[in-house]
Amino acid sequence: MNITDIIPAVRIAASKNGLVTCRLAGEKGDVAGADEKTLVIDSAESIREAFDGWFEKNTPAPEKVVLKDVCTIDVSGVDTVGRQRIPGRIVIVTGGAQGFGAGIAGELFEEGANIVVADLNEEVGSEMAAKLNEKGYQNKAFFVKADVSDPDSVENLVKETVLNFGGIDVMISNAGILRAGGLDEMDPKTFDLMTKVNYTGYFYCAKYSSKVMKIQSEYSDGNHYMDIIQINSKSGLKGSNRNFAYAGGKFGGIGLTQSFALELMPHRIKVNSICPGNFFDGPLWSNPENGLFVQYLKAGKVPGAKTIEDVKRHYENQVPARRGCRVIDVVRAILYAIEQEYETGQAIPVTGGQEMLK
Ligand SMILES: NC(=O)c1ccc[n+]([C@@H]2O[C@H](COP(=O)([O-])OP(=O)(O)OC[C@H]3O[C@@H](n4cnc5c(N)ncnc54)[C@H](O)[C@@H]3O)[C@@H](O)[C@H]2O)c1
Repeated sequence: MNITDIIPAVRIAASKNGLVTCRLAGEKGDVAGADEKTLVIDSAESIREAFDGWFEKNTPAPEKVVLKDVCTIDVSGVDTVGRQRIPGRIVIVTGGAQGFGAGIAGELFEEGANIVVADLNEEVGSEMAAKLNEKGYQNKAFFVKADVSDPDSVENLVKETVLNFGGIDVMISNAGILRAGGLDEMDPKTFDLMTKVNYTGYFYCAKYSSKVMKIQSEYSDGNHYMDIIQINSKSGLKGSNRNFAYAGGKFGGIGLTQSFALELMPHRIKVNSICPGNFFDGPLWSNPENGLFVQYLKAGKVPGAKTIEDVKRHYENQVPARRGCRVIDVVRAILYAIEQEYETGQAIPVTGGQEMLK
């Protein structure tokens, strides 16, 4: 076993009485200085047995684990405030620097999760992680620069998560881009880019995170469920006029979700898509320079609309709930997917009634 496989095994074995996080402290595995809060393990093959012995005598997890001659791992517990719904979980949010991703990261942090903000945008993403850490909670956040359309970058994101937190419980594949256009306007390069980010990027997120989750599953007591959650769209459920590159990738994402779900449920990894309606308050729609409301007003897409408010009202009126989707609506669906152990492979609409499943 290499170190990036050993750490998730140790982390989940140490989580018998509540989820812990682990951090690689050294690559020597030196037993000097081991005290009564240290668990010394002879070899990677005896991780399970060593923890069984530890928990026969102790309730809290060890504070340090030394795998002789291989590595030293620091272990931290997480405060559990009664209200928190996912204390100690390790959650990656791709595209976590802004929009839905930033909102999801912030809300799940309040629910006790350790958050990895993964994004192309280093400046905003690191600020976001720093802001969460300023709250002074025991759960932590950190930023990793990642491009979901590049497999090496996603593999590195997963590795950094393991080295800093010890494993992964929830992968939220949220990063996505939208470039609208009909057949005459859409050039092959733009189509390829959107497909790489929105569709192939989800495959990379599932591929590399599931590897770690499978190790955790093998070393858990059989009651630790994990999640891969794709932030899809209502455009993954119904075609979108002059927006086929986006809708096609999102429809494809649901095919991946159903197929990954079948493959991964034996490892207690659930895979679901969440299909939000339009997030009118987010930057994609509301950016005053290049948001969709401004673009649609300039392009005259909404007949008779004279102001941004007219365009907005036009779109709100298409929603039975008469408003756009908000971060909290999506977060409630994410928490449902995580807490519900008896469901996988679903596409959960969060559209205020705009899209209904057949
Ligand atoms: N905004 C909406 O109305 C809406 C509706 C339904 C679904 N969605 C979906 O929600 C998700 C988030 O959308 P949003 O509106 O919050 O987007 P956004 O444009 O506000 O934010 C997207 C984030 O992803 C990052 N990103 C872009 N490409 C990336 C890449 N290759 N690798 C890593 N990070 C990358 C960006 O830097 C940005 O921080 C997307 O999957 C989108 O399809 C959005």
